[in-house]
Amino acid sequence: MITWEELEEKCRSCEGCPLGKTRTNCVFGTGNRNAELMFVGEAPGEQEDLTGIPFVGAAGKHLDRHLAAVGIDRDSVYIANILNCRAPKNRDPLPPEEDACMDFLRAQVRLIQPKIIVCLGRIAAMRLIDPAFRITANHGKFYEKGKFTVCAVYHPSALLRDPSKNKDMYLDLKAVKERLAASD
Ligand code: URA
Repeated sequence: MITWEELEEKCRSCEGCPLGKTRTNCVFGTGNRNAELMFVGEAPGEQEDLTGIPFVGAAGKHLDRHLAAVGIDRDSVYIANILNCRAPKNRDPLPPEEDACMDFLRAQVRLIQPKIIVCLGRIAAMRLIDPAFRITANHGKFYEKGKFTVCAVYHPSALLRDPSKNKDMYLDLKAVKERLAASD
């Protein structure tokens, strides 16, 4: 199996799609490599592109607030994205960009073996749960995908745009935490 060092090096020098030419930094996953809980976002934004670290901008700070609200320590989880490079003007990832990047995510999941994978938003849920996934209807539901339990919650950016969704996020993350505790 590929090592973390090999994987990260491969990712940082990747030019598997045109975003490899426009990024400032490749944004590899971060956090606890033995995590029981893994979060998967969409793609780096501006701050992530500049720093090389996922979820450090406004959406990331909002995610931190939600994790703290339910007592999940950000350092205890692993956070990655479907795309490791920023798409121009934060547009949605294109299918070939996702295809080119998925092996990096798969390898991280294989190395970590998390108990639960939480998709942050529609784009990750469409890739990891169901191409027709509807986030409004199906956030907070648990799906068995091979040996992993997967669910989706609203993307923190969607919560910043529509704060009325914050309560659903709180309840969904609380359910994730309870399910994790029940699996011990
Ligand atoms: N939004 C994402 O989906 N991922 C990040 O890393 C930052 C913002």
